[in-house]
Amino acid sequence: MDAPSKEFALAGSLEELKIKGRLVVHGGHRPILVIYDRGRVFALDNRCPHMGFPLERGSVEDGILTCHWHHARFDLESGCTFDLWADDVPICPVEVRNGDVWVKTNFTHADLAAHWRQRLANGLAHNLGLIIAKAMHGQLAAGVPQAEIVREVALFGAQNRDGWGVGLTILTALANILPVLPEEEAYLALFHGARRVAAECDGEAPRRERAPLGSRPDPAALKRWLRRWTNVRHREAAERTLLTAIAAGFSPAELADALFAAETERAFADTGHSLDFINKAFECLDLVGWQHAAALLPTVVGQMVAARGAEESTAWRQPVDLVALCEESASELADLFAAGRGSRDWSGHAALAQELLGDDPARIVDALKEAIRAGAAPADLGQSLAYAAALRVARFGNANEHADWETAHHVFTYANAVHQMLTRIGTADIDTHVTAVRGVLHGAMALYLARYLNVPPARIPGDGGEQLDDLPADPETIGAALLDAFDRQRQVDLAASLVARHLTLGHSPQALIATLAHAVLREDAGFHAYQMLEAGVRQFGAWGDTDEGRHILIAVARYLAAHSPTERASLQTADIARRLMRGGELHQEAGSS
Ligand code: FES
Repeated sequence: MDAPSKEFALAGSLEELKIKGRLVVHGGHRPILVIYDRGRVFALDNRCPHMGFPLERGSVEDGILTCHWHHARFDLESGCTFDLWADDVPICPVEVRNGDVWVKTNFTHADLAAHWRQRLANGLAHNLGLIIAKAMHGQLAAGVPQAEIVREVALFGAQNRDGWGVGLTILTALANILPVLPEEEAYLALFHGARRVAAECDGEAPRRERAPLGSRPDPAALKRWLRRWTNVRHREAAERTLLTAIAAGFSPAELADALFAAETERAFADTGHSLDFINKAFECLDLVGWQHAAALLPTVVGQMVAARGAEESTAWRQPVDLVALCEESASELADLFAAGRGSRDWSGHAALAQELLGDDPARIVDALKEAIRAGAAPADLGQSLAYAAALRVARFGNANEHADWETAHHVFTYANAVHQMLTRIGTADIDTHVTAVRGVLHGAMALYLARYLNVPPARIPGDGGEQLDDLPADPETIGAALLDAFDRQRQVDLAASLVARHLTLGHSPQALIATLAHAVLREDAGFHAYQMLEAGVRQFGAWGDTDEGRHILIAVARYLAAHSPTERASLQTADIARRLMRGGELHQEAGSS
């Protein structure tokens, strides 16, 4: 007998189906369940979309198919689920010809990219991890560019929560490192970013739009106003001012300068998170396109104006008034930069970093002033500060309390954000941009206050030509040993030594970074682990494969080792989605293992 077309497969005779009630069609395609119910024939993917249990073992009643594993229920005709966490079952066309039942074996959609974009929107809206994972896999397989996926998620996050948060920060941090990740890891990175955005928006009120002012005041006035509204915590005024600056065509550098000047009205606000979020919003726009500035950038204003500054903290006031020290020095910045303008080939980054790690705040500030006089640009100061902060993490003593890791982490990610923002602002108009350099002063004081974390300092492996010959030598074995170390708790020193071993033998830093990324992406990582990884990759990029670069990646590895392993539940979800999307029969796979 001829098939209706090559895409159809014979399921059996209609009589047989009526007697048995259901048939399963196997072949080179995914298994297809054919069901006879109340005079009609239906065909569906036999694998439950939730976790792959064979739907042939389910029950049908009143047009509803129930999976017997976790009892998800599906409309037999459309495959649509009544239980959103389970996802819809793909259905396929059926034809009855000459008493035989034929099913179409191809489940594909006319526009795969559009189909998976809609599924991602559903997954995000209902915070459904499995749906998000499948949609992410489906979009990547359909050839949707990674930047487009990041844009979809970022805009969802900006619209469905009243303010930038942890989710969008994680999304951006992971999107930043996509270029150094293998394909499989890119899927995981996008999944983690999207699931954290969805989780953070779940149950939140959507963002209310605000409009720019009808006038276009000059840039200096807008910058002044933004500082004023931040000082008096007037959110609506600050948002309208920022929207006006965007509408007036401020460049990314000008916007960065205006926001940075406002943000640094308070010192080390919200332990650095507020400034870090602002930097991430800028980086997000680099990824998704600056045409979305009005949608994304104002989301940072709420936290900026509400943030608690370190000037309200006793530690910053007693026994030394660090806030007053910063204010006094900030007033000298314009003259100092003018004095250093002639010599722009300053290269004392590493030496300045060592001075920033000192235990006298006045001398630390003097070292910064001297560097400016000698020609250091704002971004140079930021780079030194970030390296010094990485050394705090790399030398974090094991005698500290576990929670103290976060103190070291906060300074490092803040310093990285200061460095990135000052690089973005640039030196074209240094006279009007000096306000932003207050971020370096604040970061230096936060670093000073965290000096106890290095008493005694942990030894940094690989310094002084140390070869670490008791460790493996080839890069694959080192990578496996590193992942093995992350499988066990408190392997901080071993992880550091393996990183040092890899780099001192001259192996590829990219391979090491991919291993560290894998170590994060397989965990249910905390917010700070993502930040640490991305800031470390950024800072390594600034220093390259040098002693300083090695210290930075050692800092990353030590932090990650202190926070691994976790339950890896998200990885399980991502794996289930990946296998379902590839057509696997999870239930059989599980049974045969
Ligand atoms: S409900 Fe079917 S596998 Fe979970």
